[in-house]
Amino acid sequence: MPLTISELNTCERAAFTAALGPLFEHSPWVAEQTWPLRPFCDAAHLHANLCQTMQSGPREQQVALIRAHPDLAGRLARQKQLTRESTREQASAGLDQLTDAELGAFQKLNDEYRGKFGFPFIICARLNAKDAIVTAMKSRLTNSPATEHATALGEIEKIAWLRLQDAFGTHLH
Ligand code: GUN
Repeated sequence: MPLTISELNTCERAAFTAALGPLFEHSPWVAEQTWPLRPFCDAAHLHANLCQTMQSGPREQQVALIRAHPDLAGRLARQKQLTRESTREQASAGLDQLTDAELGAFQKLNDEYRGKFGFPFIICARLNAKDAIVTAMKSRLTNSPATEHATALGEIEKIAWLRLQDAFGTHLH
């Protein structure tokens, strides 16, 4: 069922959180803490408020949100244990069609990235094809932890925007 902004502006906290919780991977606190800021004019205004909640949240909760994301082409994907949203995102980048050699390369880069930063590599998979993802992974491995924390949150904003557009369906405007 596509959502509308007027439904979201009038619903209870629990329903609001149930509808918008999945925009932020396994982290319904972002939606729940944004509910008191209603009403929102449109999808862009709602998204800006959700992102503000995420960006002003405690650092440990931000790290938990980043860590809640599955590795790209990782174990959960191979075992088909991703959320519906993640399954679609990884498929759109072509990550469900990798050769064994490509899978091995992803695993190595995922492990190297996680080893350096302590959280998984986050990039908006629906806006990047697999080659662009590999290039970005190699380049971002040279960044500082502070830069990667900020970059991951920025990518999560893009992921949430696309998930929000899906939730609104044809009722986007
Ligand atoms: N991990 C890294 N990028 C993504 C993404 O776009 N979606 C999901 N679900 N997980 C990711």
